[in-house]
Amino acid sequence: MKNRDLQATWAYHDGTKHSYESIRTNRHYLDWENQPIPFKIYSELEPIALPKQLSSSGMAALEAISILDISAKDQAIPSIQTLAEILFLSAGITKRRSYPGGEIFFRAAACTGALYHIDLYLVCGDLPELQAGVYHFGPHDFALRRLRAGDYRGTLVQASGREPAITNAPVIIVCASTYWRNAWKYQSRTYRHCFWDTGTILANLLAAAVAHHMPARIVLGFADWTVSRLLGLDTMREGALALVALGNAPGQVNEAPAVEPVSFETAPLSKTEVDYPAIRAMHEASSLEGEADVTNWRSQALENPSTGSPTPTSREHVIPLEPGNETPQDSLEAVIQRRGSTRQFSRESISFRQLSTMLDRATRGVPTDFLPPEEAPLNDLYLIVHAVEDVAPGAYVFRRDGRALELLREGDFRRQAGHLGLGQEIPADCSVDVFFLADLHKVLQPWGNRGYRAVQLEASIAGGKLYLAAYAQGLGASGLTFFDDDVTEFFSPHAAGKSVMFLLALGKSAKRRL
Ligand SMILES: Cc1cc2nc3c(=O)[nH]c(=O)nc-3n(C[C@H](O)[C@H](O)[C@H](O)COP(=O)(O)O)c2cc1C
Repeated sequence: MKNRDLQATWAYHDGTKHSYESIRTNRHYLDWENQPIPFKIYSELEPIALPKQLSSSGMAALEAISILDISAKDQAIPSIQTLAEILFLSAGITKRRSYPGGEIFFRAAACTGALYHIDLYLVCGDLPELQAGVYHFGPHDFALRRLRAGDYRGTLVQASGREPAITNAPVIIVCASTYWRNAWKYQSRTYRHCFWDTGTILANLLAAAVAHHMPARIVLGFADWTVSRLLGLDTMREGALALVALGNAPGQVNEAPAVEPVSFETAPLSKTEVDYPAIRAMHEASSLEGEADVTNWRSQALENPSTGSPTPTSREHVIPLEPGNETPQDSLEAVIQRRGSTRQFSRESISFRQLSTMLDRATRGVPTDFLPPEEAPLNDLYLIVHAVEDVAPGAYVFRRDGRALELLREGDFRRQAGHLGLGQEIPADCSVDVFFLADLHKVLQPWGNRGYRAVQLEASIAGGKLYLAAYAQGLGASGLTFFDDDVTEFFSPHAAGKSVMFLLALGKSAKRRL
């Protein structure tokens, strides 16, 4: 079974590490003439317009990101209005900016390079205002396009090994990447970005579902080939990354019609496309093959879940979080629409209460099929604190179970943080850098290569929640890339043997009050 050949993950992960040397010797340049468009546009399918009027759920963003799950006891079937709002808040266009070479359509969730290679598809039964079918969501005109007519949820029930939330879902959202749209800039590292950029979307999506009282569960165990075929993906260029079961309507799903091959004309992305085989190789190596394979994988995952909380090394220098109850009440809709990535930080301090609130709210777990919510998660959070009131600058590890920061090394590490974040100013000028590190050996052993998808996604969903928690408090945030091994070394011996999954800078914007 390919999923058990762990060499594939190590080859991919090690082969796509950034180091000072790899960046210096990489001859890749951005071919602006050949930049791919950031949309998948089906040229021949009729758009089905979605309602554009956004209502306000009235739920505070800080509340929406911290509620783990809406009870799936009651029936919950989204209206077209609810679906439209969830899609908008997850992957819709929230801002347009002109620049000399054209216009950038910024989206609700942060995305590496603003290249927006992740698309959302819906697989639903008959809904009040939408016929059963398989649809693609096009943010460019805020419309759905129907790829198949009929209720195909049974196909996903089977592909997911009869995962209960999928079995009861009136709608299943599928996230998929068209690799070239990101690989144009990031080459083979794009497979990591597949999960980073899906994770930020899913952080928004989960919060939007909570705000609309819709149960939602992320499902990573599914038979890849079946899902790709259902969506009509071109598996040489595209991959399905995650399913989200949305809503609750037990007893509806029947056997799906036969899944005949479909293929639709789409607008060319660019003049030519460059293939990066390492992306496809990693996707294939972490693929699951059929219902039995999926069920096995999930039970392995649930039996051998976590890597545990970081081992406490000291009883001293432990600072309990102080989140406080009086948090800003800005609505989820307002926060998502004003979110951006902070381009320049001011070096000013944030309060410990603000940092505590961000860490506390963003780490309360995620509803998934691969990790019981009460389990210790796969990633540990390591921080470099530059400017937080009442906290000595230095390197820290976050103790999730004790909800506390443990000091590893005191000092002013702005210069080092700048280096670790690929020599950029953002990680040096922010107030805190949050690094997500995981022990890949422990994750891959029970879970196989599929564990690589899970661990990347878990980090990026928490990263996406941190984005929202920062903007909800009038602060700024930016995702960042990093020099892999240098980060591990910086946090060692505590982090020895761990691999970096995600990095986020938090602080105050130099430009304006957010
Ligand atoms: C995982 C991740 C990594 C990122 N890495 C960097 C980075 O290294 N440098 C940078 O300036 N911006 C980085 N960004 C920010 C993106 O460039 C930004 O999200 C994108 O341009 C879209 O803009 P917006 O977030 O303001 O909507 C990153 C974003 C994410 C989600």
